[in-house]
Amino acid sequence: MKRLAIVILVLAVFDAIEATGSDGGGYCNCNRIMAPRPHSVTITEFGAVGDGKTLNTVAFQNAVFYLRSFADKGGAQLYVPKGKWLTGSFNLTSHLTLFLEKDAVIIGSQDSSQWPIVDPLPSYGQGQDIPGQRHRSLINGYNLTDVVITGHNGIIDGQGVVWWEWFNSQTLNYSRPHILELVNSTDVVVSNLTFLNSPAWSIHPVYSSNVEILNITVHAPVESPFTNGIVPDSCSNLCIEGCSIEVGHDAIALKSGWDNYGITFSTPSTDIHIRNAHLQAPLGSALAFGSEMSGGISLVYVEHLHIDDSLIGINFKTVPGRGGFIHNIVVSNVEMENVHEAFRFSGNCGRHPGNQYDPSALPIVQGITLKDMVGTNISTAGFFSGIDSDPFTGICLSNIALSITSDASLPWTCSNISGYSESVFPSPCSDLTSNSSLSCFSFAAEFTGLADA
Ligand SMILES: *[C@@H]1O[C@H](CO)[C@@H](O)[C@H](O)[C@H]1NC(C)=O
Ligand SMILES: *[C@@H]1O[C@H](CO)[C@@H](O)[C@H](O)[C@H]1NC(C)=O
Ligand SMILES: *[C@@H]1O[C@H](CO)[C@@H](O)[C@H](O)[C@H]1NC(C)=O
Ligand SMILES: *[C@@H]1O[C@H](CO)[C@@H](O)[C@H](O)[C@H]1NC(C)=O
Ligand SMILES: *[C@@H]1O[C@H](CO)[C@@H](O)[C@H](O)[C@H]1NC(C)=O
Ligand SMILES: *[C@@H]1O[C@H](CO)[C@@H](O)[C@H](O)[C@H]1NC(C)=O
Repeated sequence: MKRLAIVILVLAVFDAIEATGSDGGGYCNCNRIMAPRPHSVTITEFGAVGDGKTLNTVAFQNAVFYLRSFADKGGAQLYVPKGKWLTGSFNLTSHLTLFLEKDAVIIGSQDSSQWPIVDPLPSYGQGQDIPGQRHRSLINGYNLTDVVITGHNGIIDGQGVVWWEWFNSQTLNYSRPHILELVNSTDVVVSNLTFLNSPAWSIHPVYSSNVEILNITVHAPVESPFTNGIVPDSCSNLCIEGCSIEVGHDAIALKSGWDNYGITFSTPSTDIHIRNAHLQAPLGSALAFGSEMSGGISLVYVEHLHIDDSLIGINFKTVPGRGGFIHNIVVSNVEMENVHEAFRFSGNCGRHPGNQYDPSALPIVQGITLKDMVGTNISTAGFFSGIDSDPFTGICLSNIALSITSDASLPWTCSNISGYSESVFPSPCSDLTSNSSLSCFSFAAEFTGLADA
């Protein structure tokens, strides 16, 4: 009976992977769209000057406009050579490779008028920082397919310090922009680049699928307010591999829309693979789910994380009004070092976009497995707090050893939560000691290649 259940689960997992057209290995495989482009132009051909002072917004816009004509000829590359290329916001186009040479730095203008105003995303209903519209990101893609943003470790620097000051002094007129936002796009690779100092988030793929984010470094200073690293948002078949991220808030945050807007838009983040990442979030969470999760988050496999110097290691955030779900998540093979709180599940975390939300729209948090982890210099093991009359269930911990440094309080705090645990030190609260692992979500790694290094 048990064996039959396992076979059915494995078949279901295979079906899920086949259905979404991923490579069956469940991790990044970008060879299919990394063929060199038959045409290439250099940004200087469009009058750009790489002195760090000349504003090159029009050069980038004209270059992309010109390269649109190569879309049906195998696409084209926009080559950015060594230099400091100051620019405002520009769009990408389909079948385009944006390539940043070593020591090429694209710098975001600190003049807010270089970042035009756009409508909020439909799944959010308003800007993240303040109600109303928001600034367009530095580099944007709308409705695109086959886009590669790569280089020899070139840099994209958002120069966000002015935005952080406007945010902190409450003098923003519109919500802050991100460095890279891809909306409703498919077959996207972002690789071999460094993203610095985003005004808000560094990489924001939204309503997109078949997205691969490989070998990326993201940095924003600890004190930069609510700067997130990579934010997969209502995306499917997305992978993040080999990335190193240190930001002011959450290093990787999975999202899917905000309250009534996200419930109506109803587009989950699903079939997401994250592996081999080094994450630091001194004032936030290294890996976060939510708090905006109203379209749902499911089928997320995370493995081989190194998390250090962070406030929270792995954080599941939601609040009544969100609706949606977080289910079928496995996080495994994690090392944590110098983390204040290793795990957090909170049913009372996050703001609302105005008063239109329905407080009776309760999120479902279910089937989440955290396993094979070690932590050193951890202050608190876990704070697990579900919602009254809406408990979080199937929360499973396995093979976890944490060395706890704080002697102040109990290492675990639990309420409105149930699940299973085995081989966990220090011993978790009794809420997590159901004697059946049936409600745990498990992923048969050996059948899918995820276990291969
Ligand atoms: C960028 O794309 C948006 C959405 O299609 C469009 O409104 C805007 O005019 C474009 N900007 C440029 C400079 O082409
Ligand atoms: C994306 O494509 C849809 C359908 O063609 C169109 O309605 C929409 O305006 C496009 N969005 C942008 C920003 O260009
Ligand atoms: C997304 O893009 C596809 C293809 O370009 C288009 O058909 C669809 O209408 C777009 N959807 C939205 C919400 O813009
Ligand atoms: C990662 O990027 C760096 C700098 O661009 C490069 O030297 C290295 O080979 C890349 N690693 C992989 C695995 O692609
Ligand atoms: C906000 O708007 C005011 C009035 O137009 C303008 O002076 C100010 O520069 C704007 N602030 C930002 C951060 O764009
Ligand atoms: C990253 O850079 C390395 C070294 O140049 C190269 O071998 C690899 O193919 C690149 N990967 C991607 C996905 O761009």
